[in-house]
Amino acid sequence: LLVVLDFGSQYAHLIVRRLRDIGFYSELHPYDVGPERLMELKPKGLILSGGPASVYESDSPHLDARIFSLGIPILGICYGMQEIAYQLGGKVECGDKREYGHATLQVVEDPADGGALFHGLKTSCSVWMSHGDRVISLPEGFYPIARTENCNYAAVYGQPNAHASVLAPIYGLQFHPEVSHSEHGTEVLANFCRAVCGCRGDWYMEAFLEEAIRTIREQTGEHALVVGALSGGVDSTVAALLVSRAIGDRFRGIFVDNGLLRKNEATDVMAMLRDQMHVQVDCINASTHFLDALAGVTDPEEKRKTIGNQFIKVFEEQARKISADFLLQGTLYPDVIESISHKGPSATIKTHHNVGGLPQRMRLKLIEPLRYLFKDEVRKLGLVLGLPAEVVYRHPFPGPGLAIRVLGEITSERLNKLREADAIFLHELRRAGLYEQIGQAFAVLLSSKAVGVMGDFRTYEEVIALRAVATSDYMTADWYPLPFEVLRRISLRIVNEVSGVNRIVYDVTSKPPGTIEWE
Ligand code: XMP
Repeated sequence: LLVVLDFGSQYAHLIVRRLRDIGFYSELHPYDVGPERLMELKPKGLILSGGPASVYESDSPHLDARIFSLGIPILGICYGMQEIAYQLGGKVECGDKREYGHATLQVVEDPADGGALFHGLKTSCSVWMSHGDRVISLPEGFYPIARTENCNYAAVYGQPNAHASVLAPIYGLQFHPEVSHSEHGTEVLANFCRAVCGCRGDWYMEAFLEEAIRTIREQTGEHALVVGALSGGVDSTVAALLVSRAIGDRFRGIFVDNGLLRKNEATDVMAMLRDQMHVQVDCINASTHFLDALAGVTDPEEKRKTIGNQFIKVFEEQARKISADFLLQGTLYPDVIESISHKGPSATIKTHHNVGGLPQRMRLKLIEPLRYLFKDEVRKLGLVLGLPAEVVYRHPFPGPGLAIRVLGEITSERLNKLREADAIFLHELRRAGLYEQIGQAFAVLLSSKAVGVMGDFRTYEEVIALRAVATSDYMTADWYPLPFEVLRRISLRIVNEVSGVNRIVYDVTSKPPGTIEWE
């Protein structure tokens, strides 16, 4: 394990990503983690991230100085390096020139022991700088190992024992090796992990899988039962599959058909989970409960709340019958990072439906086997577990389902129209080979009608909007430029095949200012 301490840099999670990509398992922890907790984690190396503060300001974040004496090799990046210099007796100053963007790094000749970091790399390469402050004098026992035109201490090395309180090698980089603009950044990180910390770099999904199975077995003992909600989405499916692999039939999945799913979704998901993946799962058809509760509800947040409450009711009732000891949740690493980082509260745009309140209410212990994985790692794990690629790469589908895509009033009839239109849209995207390039695509049934002419008759019918976006994180998105031919075919098919719809529009709004869903 390598621990990255977060000093508030926007790149902190990127360091974790880079390390994992090259086979070194790492976790992000807050900068103020104490030496006691670090000793429990037993990392082979510590990386101090960058950050927006200045070390000499009164309220800036500082490392607990006892950490230097733990005998763990340390790499400080940008603010992290300035913090090391500041704490060990060097000097940091606000530079007269800020330095952003590319700089040419020149490795100092014959850097003796400090050379491990640049071992096997070109002595001159392009790196990415982003700093205002700079180190102007080094602590005792430290020397420069690389410089740029504007920065004498672009990389520094501190020998173990040369400084009274330092027991392991320390490196500092003023540039950011974690960003892709730094030419040999990944290799520099790999050298630190392998040559300095002695890590093997063999953390891959297979290793994670073995470890996760062992942990789940330990956590649940020999008899405990685990219950979990399955939605058919990749996170809950992978989590359930993993737990099933670890404890077999002691995992009981519940799939709630809320009547707001896409065409054939309940049948397809159940066939995949039960028949193909052999997960123990029950399908509860609660459509009438949900549709009754939603009758007359048109406000988006009200819809979400109603669905959330109904879901908890149905799930709780089923889960009680099982008398489980644990609740499985598909929490991912970004949620964990979000909860440990020190960001201020942000405005609620949409209340996402989830099962957050359940464990306390039901007095269940939580089991969260994906809490250290990023989304694309969950996908990799899904593939290792034998999940079909079309499940692993499915577009996300919101918890409240079609309820937030039928604008205005929700009725079975309107839901059916949307289901048919949506199925045609997705089918045509797949047929055109576009599905995988699109982050999310779906149809929306608008709340106003339009006049049209069909045959010799005036029609006054519903409008369907089509939405397809390109996105990697769903936080921002751009509308996807679908070829006109594809749009033409989809539009023709929907108005011809879905009765009660006479007009199709294509949504050309990015996020921001729009959101991906319409409600
Ligand atoms: P927005 O519409 O906020 O969507 O741009 C971003 C992503 O979140 C999904 N989404 C939801 N998922 N419950 C969910 O589980 C919700 O209430 C919800 N609202 C939006 C949306 O489909 C997109 O992938």
